[in-house]
Amino acid sequence: MTDKPGAAIAGTGSYIPEKVLSNFDLMKLVDTSDEWITVRTGIKERHIAGEGETTASMAVTASERALEDAGVRAEQIDAIICATITPEMPLPATACFIQDKLGAEQAAAFDIAAACSGFIYGLEISKMFIESGRYEHVLLVGSETLSRITDYQDRTTCILFGDGAGTAVLKASNDRQEGIIYTNLKSDGHKWDMLQLPGCGSRYPASQEVLDKRMQYMKIQGRAIYKFAVNSMQELIVDAMKKCDLSVDDVKMVVPHQVNRRIIDSAMGKLGFPAEKVYINIDRCGNTSSASVPIALDEARREGKLVAGDTIIMVAFGGGLTWGSAVVKL
Ligand code: ACO
Repeated sequence: MTDKPGAAIAGTGSYIPEKVLSNFDLMKLVDTSDEWITVRTGIKERHIAGEGETTASMAVTASERALEDAGVRAEQIDAIICATITPEMPLPATACFIQDKLGAEQAAAFDIAAACSGFIYGLEISKMFIESGRYEHVLLVGSETLSRITDYQDRTTCILFGDGAGTAVLKASNDRQEGIIYTNLKSDGHKWDMLQLPGCGSRYPASQEVLDKRMQYMKIQGRAIYKFAVNSMQELIVDAMKKCDLSVDDVKMVVPHQVNRRIIDSAMGKLGFPAEKVYINIDRCGNTSSASVPIALDEARREGKLVAGDTIIMVAFGGGLTWGSAVVKL
């Protein structure tokens, strides 16, 4: 027995913008087809932030829903962590905008950038904050307005991404039956160029040349990422199950980063997980980077597919490269 508190998920919330961008809409912008996108990615449509909607505004709505679900007031939040690659602006942190709107006066607020793995990275940080006894409540957000860094002239990337936000409220818990059981974070900076947005940072500050070369948009090596994602997803799940002594039967659901339906099906099939044990919303949402896992988690809970006592594995991988897993007992 230990006096150390655990970190449990007290509530979740998400927000997906109303505006839909279908495969048929994309066919008007680039040389592609509904069939190609559906077969290669599993995506039928994605949601795009409307005018006036931003990474912080979506995060605030998702967070209000999560706070309500958790029965926690904004003033009780000790830290707000926002995982995003599409911040409200470079300065200040998006988490500060969230704090302002929520009125979470007591909270420390900062962003983390671990691309699509951001929410998983945030889970480990939250776990450490809470287990150390330093904080009691952490608001962890993944929010992305990827449509604003997507090149709608590039058919290899623009079909993939959508916008949205997902939030989890983490709380200190002495109940050994619930909480974040295990986290595993990885990165490989040698492969930084597999997924990048080269322009408008310190290496290539904003300039007419940067805009002319369309360097303000994401560039990806899709084929290479595909192979990396299938392998890392399998490795992460095998590792998590081994470390936590779990069988497929013990796991209620895998909540994976919604990267590509084929990647998820291929990895999960090899591991022997049946379709009902894998949450999928990529057909409706596309890839929303750091928002992908928390949106999927919130939807699965609200649809009643996950309830208290269920053990889940969350996995994500993305730019950096970064990848990671978390095992949680709800
Ligand atoms: N419509 C029609 N044809 C297309 C399109 C399109 N939108 N995009 C590419 N093609 C063409 C290519 O030009 C190529 O044509 P060619 O054979 O004449 O050269 C052909 O289709 C095959 O292209 P590939 O890139 O080999 O297609 P692939 O099957 O690998 O699918 C995809 C591409 C969907 C990007 C896939 O590689 C993938 O999902 N990769 C991983 C996802 C990813 O990179 N996500 C980025 C975010 S990172 C993350 O979340 C981890």
